[in-house]
Amino acid sequence: MTTVTVQVPAKINLQLAVGPPRSDGYHDLVTVFHAVSLFDQVTVAPGAADSVAVSGEGAGQVPADGENLALRAVRALRAAIKSGARQPVVADGQPGVAVTIRKKIPVAAGLAGGSADAAAALVACNELWRAGLSQQDLCEVAGTVGSDVAFAVLGGTAVGRGRGERLTPALVSPARYHWVLAFADGELPTPAVYSALDRLRGSDPVPAPELSAELMSALRAGDPRRLGQALSNDLQASAISMFPALRKTLAAGSELGALGALVSGSGPTCLFLARGATHATDLAVALSGAGVCRSVARAAGPASGAAVIER
Ligand code: C5P
Repeated sequence: MTTVTVQVPAKINLQLAVGPPRSDGYHDLVTVFHAVSLFDQVTVAPGAADSVAVSGEGAGQVPADGENLALRAVRALRAAIKSGARQPVVADGQPGVAVTIRKKIPVAAGLAGGSADAAAALVACNELWRAGLSQQDLCEVAGTVGSDVAFAVLGGTAVGRGRGERLTPALVSPARYHWVLAFADGELPTPAVYSALDRLRGSDPVPAPELSAELMSALRAGDPRRLGQALSNDLQASAISMFPALRKTLAAGSELGALGALVSGSGPTCLFLARGATHATDLAVALSGAGVCRSVARAAGPASGAAVIER
């Protein structure tokens, strides 16, 4: 039987600038996505009908029915291929796809784990069905599945606009950055964190989001000190208002010498930029001993986007 396995990275946002709410319920963003080396693995195989099985970190919280984002991605890709009248989407004579997800990216943690699995499903099915869609085609389908899915296809470091799905790869130095991720004991639903931001802002006019020139300059220079200073996230205050313990986690990382400390996306994961690989290990050990989070992981970035590792 033909099977395809794809590895897909978590994302962090080096900048997340959020505009006013739109009429469709989303917010216009300017964000700098950065893929890091914390990976889920997604395997697809031909099946009588579409199905999904999930194991690993937080598997119990992932829907295992048609609502699963990876299955939605399978359906979106099938529809896109059919509408392009390219070819029938079957493998080994079977009309469905059995998706198996092995999770290391925690669920509802601000690391776009669900979006990553959807991106992996797109890349895997494109291969399983030998559909031959380009990365750009896959990113277009990805944008209809969720705001962060296209970036997980692309990987690296990229500027996102619109809902986050309109991507431009960022011009960066080949520097590698060493991050420590502090996972919280709990979850934050993304829509609630955006709503909390709207409430915190009240009736004040909200300017259109703008890309940070200082952040882009730090990335071009490959300078971790400047990068650490330039990290920003408009969702941080609302994430902290819903999960006050994050304040202590961020302060602990800063006191331990992190070059930058930030809530990741809509939280509650906190991220810390280390001076290098050794400092990342020291920081991870010290943070885990400080009792300010559930667990910690080291991750390096930028990492590649969703890629086939076995077929
Ligand atoms: O697109 P996705 O399903 O990942 O978005 C999840 C939720 O996050 C949306 O329903 C919306 O409440 C919020 N969101 C937003 N503006 C964005 C992206 C997400 O308000 N640009």
